[in-house]
Amino acid sequence: MLLGKEQDQRISNARPDKGKWRGRTVIRGNQMEQYVIRGGNPLVGEVEIGGAKNAALGILAASVMTDETVYIDNLPDVRDINVLLEALAGIGATVERVDKSTVRINGSTISDISVDYGYIKKIRASYYLLGALLGKYKQAEVPLPGGCNIGSRPIDMHLKGFKALGAEVGIVHGSIVAKAENLHGSHIYLDVVSVGATINIMLAASMAQGRTIIENAAREPHVVDVANFLNRMGANIKGAGTDVIRIWGVEKLHKTEYSIIPDQIEAGTFMFAAAATGGDVTVKNVIPKHLEATTAKLMEIGCEIQEYDDAVRVRAARKLTRTNIKTLPYPGYPTDMQPQITATLALAEGTSIVTESIFENRFKYVDELTRMGANIKVEGNSAIINGVPKLTGARVSAPDLRAGAALVIAGLSAEGITVVEDIQYIQRGYERFEEKLKGLGAIIEKVASEKEVLKFRLRVS
Ligand code: UD1
Repeated sequence: MLLGKEQDQRISNARPDKGKWRGRTVIRGNQMEQYVIRGGNPLVGEVEIGGAKNAALGILAASVMTDETVYIDNLPDVRDINVLLEALAGIGATVERVDKSTVRINGSTISDISVDYGYIKKIRASYYLLGALLGKYKQAEVPLPGGCNIGSRPIDMHLKGFKALGAEVGIVHGSIVAKAENLHGSHIYLDVVSVGATINIMLAASMAQGRTIIENAAREPHVVDVANFLNRMGANIKGAGTDVIRIWGVEKLHKTEYSIIPDQIEAGTFMFAAAATGGDVTVKNVIPKHLEATTAKLMEIGCEIQEYDDAVRVRAARKLTRTNIKTLPYPGYPTDMQPQITATLALAEGTSIVTESIFENRFKYVDELTRMGANIKVEGNSAIINGVPKLTGARVSAPDLRAGAALVIAGLSAEGITVVEDIQYIQRGYERFEEKLKGLGAIIEKVASEKEVLKFRLRVS
């Protein structure tokens, strides 16, 4: 859907040509790529954590809500982000990747509010373009989102929010189409705590007329980061980080410079990798407060934790022991850290129970862990884990992003060689994963053929 005359007036310097993409080309990912790992080395050393992918996705969508140039730093160089940047360029925004972690974006050149970029539906957060474009242009069309296959992922709360703000919303030919004469503030109660719906409503409401109240809002750090970014662009949002967010709509947003918060899930993944391998790792460039649920659990299972201003050290000097855990919205234990703790508990003494309360289909990787010798039984939304003294390397396949990372953790702690297939899922959210692990002493390679797997085996055995 091209912007009509009326909408053209809302944008300045509109150009008929599509936006510029000045950066590196997105690597589509080689389906054949695999990680091959020789386990058994405790991870030791320091690792730098990148910017939070899930915050970046909301912030990039928000960045085109102004016609002025926005400069965003600490951007993670991962596939989901690159896909979203290409989609922004696809609708006409000017996107300039200054370096791997910095981007300059100008939304004044947007010429189309229909996001028609084949790959975009593969990333869940494509729906943020709905909130952003609806807020700015009062209309948007975005393909129904995909993302990780971790259960049915409805977006009814997002649509409920847009409707409450006065938009007509429908699904046409696989896309969500939202349109409004005028967006007006509203009082919206979310029936479920949803990160996506909270951010999406915040985006649209930032440029609606009057006051919006979101009740039962998600409190995740990335919700706060998107709100902070919008506020830096001139929005008026209060209460992000609590379960009631108030937004006073403004007519225009303006330029800003912003640095994205560190990725708590990337940090947590390295912390569990340290624990599972009996290592000693300091994760740097983190906000320790955001990691509290993870550090609390690591201490419970026997790790020593030291917190610094912007770093956390995890030492696993003794045998890990059992615990129980239930995933919950922030500040509870994150569902995105569920597979990583399960892989770690597979090696802990005693019986642990991990209960997944956010997504119903998030234990698909358990069969793969079983192939490595783990003793785990899934009953309903719980995994019952009987710790075993050791795992053994096997050929396994990553079913989704975080589960893929958990299989790498299992491979690092297992005896012998593990091949993790389908690593394109892992590359969606982890920047230079194998390089960072190698920096901690892991024996891991990214390979693209069986011949390379064989070479690796010969070299390390
Ligand atoms: C975001 C994260 C994802 C994380 C999840 C929960 C991004 C891009 N992804 O996903 O990594 O696992 O938060 O922390 O930030 N729900 C509804 N209706 C809706 C929306 C959600 O019923 O309209 C349900 C979901 O099915 C799920 C729960 O609410 O059971 C939480 O989902 P939500 O917080 O929306 O997850 P996402 O934003 O998709």
